[in-house]
Amino acid sequence: MTDPGLAMTADAAKPAPRGAAPDLFDKFQPMIDIRENLLATGVTDPFSLVMERVESPTVAICNGRRTILLGTYNYMGQTFDPDVLAAGKRALDEFGSGTTGSRVLNGTYQGHRECEEALKRFYAMDHAMVFSTGYQANLGIISTMAGKDDYVILDIDSHASIYDGCALGNAQIVAFRHNDVEALEKRLKRLPAEAGKLVVLEGVYSMLGDVAPLKEMVAISKAHGAMVLVDEAHSMGFIGPNGRGVAEEQGVIDDVDFIIGTFSKSVGTVGGFCVSNHPKFEILRLVCRPYVFTASLPPSVVATAATSIDKLQGAADKRAHLWANSRRLHGGLKQLGFTLGTDEPQSAIIAVIMPDLERGAAMWEALLHEGLYVNLARPPATPAGMTLLRCSLCALHSEEQVGEILGMFEAAGKKVGVI
Ligand SMILES: Cc1ncc(COP(=O)(O)O)c(C=O)c1O
Repeated sequence: MTDPGLAMTADAAKPAPRGAAPDLFDKFQPMIDIRENLLATGVTDPFSLVMERVESPTVAICNGRRTILLGTYNYMGQTFDPDVLAAGKRALDEFGSGTTGSRVLNGTYQGHRECEEALKRFYAMDHAMVFSTGYQANLGIISTMAGKDDYVILDIDSHASIYDGCALGNAQIVAFRHNDVEALEKRLKRLPAEAGKLVVLEGVYSMLGDVAPLKEMVAISKAHGAMVLVDEAHSMGFIGPNGRGVAEEQGVIDDVDFIIGTFSKSVGTVGGFCVSNHPKFEILRLVCRPYVFTASLPPSVVATAATSIDKLQGAADKRAHLWANSRRLHGGLKQLGFTLGTDEPQSAIIAVIMPDLERGAAMWEALLHEGLYVNLARPPATPAGMTLLRCSLCALHSEEQVGEILGMFEAAGKKVGVI
């Protein structure tokens, strides 16, 4: 009888027949090698951490120990707000666990409409469309708005969902250097005056936590007849006098055609949206495939989102505390000798630049042993091949916690030898 194990070995040793199709996984080999080499150093896998219990927006139990969370997007700490939780529980009881349908068929409940009303109030805009994720909001609006013969002009460091929105559509794609006003203008000048154009920008770029010069960029875009979309995923709730984002802060919100956002950050749940003042906006509900061909958000999710959005509007004290946290952490890390993504704190994200992936992963692990969770980010998510430890602050981090965080960075940095 043939040993099945041996038979497999013998088969595997046979050369592939000429012209045979390759293993479709082969293209991932470089990534597999990088991952295996990293894990071979004995470091804990930075991409498979489990939160065993979550005690609050700022503390969880990981590997059995209390861990301060500095790598979530829970900027405004809404995930345990009693009113938000109560709204979600009520909707779960009254409307069930899911809609089992598309927004344009059986999937629009009263809660989805109330959530869109809350967004219209929050942004003081005429129209709001809730998607199942922020990723789908970018996918849907970009691919639907910019058609064949149109142009999408985007910052080269744009989020993956923006690039994927371009890939799903048929428009010509033109990228310009990150946050470079002149480069945007040069690109716009070269495009045919009569072509449709959509300039896509972000308020805060999430890898380095830097803010876009929206005032100048929106003015230039408008001067060239382009429509403007701003993704405010990382600024909603926090930046701007009413928390509407960088476009509000820089006084250009009324000139922006579409604001994209997510519920997965300051709002504290999951979902995405687009708000706009364009009089024809509502037609998008019928023509935007990532809105039409997917199930709508569960009633409990839209109920938590609506309550959270209403509460964010009046959260000026939380915004002030989050800014104080950001300034203190940025200043403290700089003083300790870390290299940071921005010279000054510009948002709730503070990126600590690591010399390479190995030391980045070692530092990430050392911080975890100290009791601190941050995000390890590496290419292709990061610009210029950088390895980053991304710290994202929460309005509910106490002054004492920020002090603890700085102490942990000092201890881990000295242990790993990066300061
Ligand atoms: C700039 C930006 N846009 C969109 C998204 C997608 O948001 P969501 O998590 O709701 O899919 C993200 C998520 O990280 C983001 O950073």
